[in-house]
Amino acid sequence: MGDRNAPIGIFDSGFGGLTVARAVMDQLPNEDIVYVGDSARSPYGELPVGQVREYALECLDHLVAQGVKMLVIACNSASAAVLADARERYTVPVVEVIRPAARRAAAVTRTGRVGVICTRATATSGAYADALAVAPNVHLTTAPCPRFVDFVEAGVTGGEEVLAVARDHLAPVVRAEVDTLILGCTHYPLLTGVLSYVLGDRVTLVSSAEECGQQAWAALLEGDLLTTRTRPGAHRFFTTGAPEQFSELGRRLVGDWIDAVEQLGSAP
Ligand code: DGL
Repeated sequence: MGDRNAPIGIFDSGFGGLTVARAVMDQLPNEDIVYVGDSARSPYGELPVGQVREYALECLDHLVAQGVKMLVIACNSASAAVLADARERYTVPVVEVIRPAARRAAAVTRTGRVGVICTRATATSGAYADALAVAPNVHLTTAPCPRFVDFVEAGVTGGEEVLAVARDHLAPVVRAEVDTLILGCTHYPLLTGVLSYVLGDRVTLVSSAEECGQQAWAALLEGDLLTTRTRPGAHRFFTTGAPEQFSELGRRLVGDWIDAVEQLGSAP
């Protein structure tokens, strides 16, 4: 059995996984967390799948070397590319973002018209269509949103330009009259304001980050891995990019629980 008091390892290409980390912290406040953001090589969403797999496994290897008790792939592009390999390669449980979000969307849609917005890599992988294949009531519309990650990585979550790009990127799901939209990239919850403004109240937003947090809770319980500690969890952050920039922007985007950020060699 794994060590219940070991940290949870969370990985993303950059800042997006902080939305998952926040969900995990809200639901599991006593758990220790080690986070890796591969900012030096983000965005993953525009890379070929083989490249994403290679980078993702390097980052996950780093987390496993830190002795984590569970891995959370907090990136849809990486989940699509590497989940099967990761489950074979590591002995600790691996939680990801795509299936939990797909399940929730299938459960909450009223009309069966579901949309997913995501990176090009996730769209090309067909991972959401596969995950929803078991829900015959669902008709899925996929809209790649290539510019959203760049806005978030630059700390820009509002303003006229974001609004114009959102109207453009969301046009296919608006035309398809979806009633439920999966935010199929962990960067997108940071754009919830503009997304809900463009789509209106009748579209339910499903966050792959929030759903993944719930999945992490369940996986720890089922693996008998919930911490026995009762003090607030300790958190370590690593980035392959510039640590000061990660900490400054991370705080601005998700809150000042991002403290010291450590450098992970340019090739982790
Ligand atoms: N946050 C990642 C995701 O969920 C992708 C961002 C990127 O393109 O690097 O897909």
